[in-house]
Amino acid sequence: MANIKLESLTKRFDDVPALDSINIEVQDKEFFVLLGPTGAGKTTMLRCVSGLEKPEEGTIRIDGEDVGEVSIAARDVAFVFQYYTLYPHMTVRENLEFPLRSRLRRYEQAKIDRRVEEVAEILHITRLLDRKSVHLSGGEMQRVGIGRAIVRQPKVFLMDEPLSNLDAKLREEMRAELARLHYQLGSTFFYVTHDQTEAMTMGDRIAVMHEGTIKQIGTPQDIYYKPADTFVAKFVGSPPINLIEGTLKDGNLSLSGGQMICCPTEEQLKALESAGKDKVIFGIRPEDILITQEEGDSNSFPMNVYFNQSMGAEDILNLKSDDLILQATVAPNLDIQVGQTVYANFQMDYAHLFDVDTTKRIG
Ligand SMILES: Nc1ncnc2c1ncn2[C@@H]1O[C@H](COP(=O)(O)OP(=O)(O)OP(=O)(O)O)[C@@H](O)[C@H]1O
Ligand SMILES: [Mg+2]
Repeated sequence: MANIKLESLTKRFDDVPALDSINIEVQDKEFFVLLGPTGAGKTTMLRCVSGLEKPEEGTIRIDGEDVGEVSIAARDVAFVFQYYTLYPHMTVRENLEFPLRSRLRRYEQAKIDRRVEEVAEILHITRLLDRKSVHLSGGEMQRVGIGRAIVRQPKVFLMDEPLSNLDAKLREEMRAELARLHYQLGSTFFYVTHDQTEAMTMGDRIAVMHEGTIKQIGTPQDIYYKPADTFVAKFVGSPPINLIEGTLKDGNLSLSGGQMICCPTEEQLKALESAGKDKVIFGIRPEDILITQEEGDSNSFPMNVYFNQSMGAEDILNLKSDDLILQATVAPNLDIQVGQTVYANFQMDYAHLFDVDTTKRIG
């Protein structure tokens, strides 16, 4: 078992930083998720931790030990890749045995057999043990790939989008399986994904990354309810948060060029005051806009329904007022028709404010 500590980690490719002075501490036994769009530097970070890539600056500690000069094998980490890395003409059993057959280890056959059986049981692949890997489905191959990583009982698991090649249904199943596996093994998981749902459902903590830098580290709740900037706010949440330019005037927020005048909470006013900002970006999540047929007391604005996307458990209303378009989620039984005028009631307690220049959260 181990923690991982990255200090001022910098890695450049042709002078462009893929990782720019990264500081992260993954706790022992934690399921830590690195979330970010393509090109953010996620794979590069995992490759640096595993030893496949050498950073220009900074240190990597595993269990307190600086591993800068430690070989890949001696770091005792296991890597699960996005693409299956099985030997196609070996059976599942042979693939699982392979990491145990290293000359470094010299395990007895009985011990190898026992360990392979255990791992197969954990991953529910016992019945596949004697099948050739080429004849497996994608999901089965991914299980065997994970099996190859856990068979050695390493200190740390590094997983780079291991579910992204599976279809939606299987991905959902495997998400639960991986969470269970993490619980069962009690080891440290450092898990990369660009899928926010995966990050939110599996991570103890999440680091949101963009262009080689960390935007925010926190629990899924921190990230969702207190996004550190507009990038994090937009990246996490589906449908995405509504962001509108606003100006503070006489204690009110004038949104979208004066189309809507809303009244911030005391707390929000104080935060705006101490930030010394009158131009802001106002953020409200689709579920924090209450839709009514009648006008509400305050912060209630008439909008035209121009599209209704039914999602089963909820509907996503696309609302329009002049050139402003917002999304709001509503219960599917509200019987709202396209073309109808409804009132969008902003639940100001749940609204977010961001600095228009730095994009950082205010308050
Ligand atoms: N070997 C390399 N040579 C040159 N540039 C590289 C190399 N590896 C990565 N990069 C660049 O570094 C940046 C980060 O790449 P990285 O693969 O870490 O992103 P990622 O977050 O894993 O993206 P994805 O979600 O697409 O896998 C990208 O701009 C990429 O083009
Ligand atoms: Mg990658």
